Amino acid sequence: MDRCMKGFRYICLSNFIMGKLDQKIIVVTGGSGLLGKALMERIYAEGGTVINGDMQSDSNNAFPFIPLDITEEASITNFIQQVLDQYGRIDGWVNNAYPRTNDWGAHLEDFPLSSWKSNIDMHLTGYYACCKHALLQMKNQGYGSLVNMSSIYGMNGPDFTVYEGTEIINPVAYSAIKGGILNLSRYLASYYGKYQVRVNCVSPGGIFDHQPKAFVEAYSKKTPLKRMGTPEEIAPSICFLLSDESKYITGHNLVVDGGWSIV
Ligand SMILES: NC(=O)c1ccc[n+]([C@@H]2O[C@H](COP(=O)([O-])OP(=O)(O)OC[C@H]3O[C@@H](n4cnc5c(N)ncnc54)[C@H](O)[C@@H]3O)[C@@H](O)[C@H]2O)c1
Repeated sequence: MDRCMKGFRYICLSNFIMGKLDQKIIVVTGGSGLLGKALMERIYAEGGTVINGDMQSDSNNAFPFIPLDITEEASITNFIQQVLDQYGRIDGWVNNAYPRTNDWGAHLEDFPLSSWKSNIDMHLTGYYACCKHALLQMKNQGYGSLVNMSSIYGMNGPDFTVYEGTEIINPVAYSAIKGGILNLSRYLASYYGKYQVRVNCVSPGGIFDHQPKAFVEAYSKKTPLKRMGTPEEIAPSICFLLSDESKYITGHNLVVDGGWSIV
């Protein structure tokens, strides 16, 4: 459905229902990816205006796209200026991009320190750089909600048995990056609370993306809900944290993992 049709549908629906994110201007970084696509659809369904900030556009969706490279500070400031020029404010921001080096999937023994450093810099520092500039804008506005995407692997060590018999690697730097994002979010929530600017995390568990059968079965067996998640099951929690329904929640980590991390 193109943007025009989506706008028409929204006008029709908005006569009858209010969405959680009505009138809100929301940025999603990495909106062209697996979780980003479902998230943008959900924000839109909740009445929000969503802008995709990604290095590559997604030709299959008609949401506004502004190029963004979260590893370059000038790209972030230029992106924010373009959003402000076109939309006037930023009510919500989701750090969802997933930059990584070409050898991201290498075994720990084959993963050089240079790659470790690059990934920490691209991902953890990239998230911080987006936080720094987006939160400054929200502070100036006197309100705003930012959500950082972490992971169960920012909280728990991996269970390597679920990868047995497959080529899938759980990258060592991911645990440090996602754990870093979790506590960075707590620092920022505390720092910006007095400006009514909120910072929270969402930590998804494994999302089904056509992984090998052996992995899907082993992962599902270990999960209390006995299956992997879908992008559509992650998006509503992010929308909740972006919405005014969560306006007294900050510094929280909302785990959406079918129970993986509690056993
Ligand atoms: N998929 C999962 O199972 C899962 C589980 C837990 C957490 N997460 C987290 O959710 C987020 C999204 O994951 P995903 O699976 O949708 O990833 P994905 O790889 O499908 O999409 C990531 C998007 O980020 C974009 N991107 C990469 N580098 C960028 C950069 N420098 N600047 C801007 N955009 C850039 C890519 O172009 C892509 O569109 C990530 O933070 C990831 O760690 C994912």
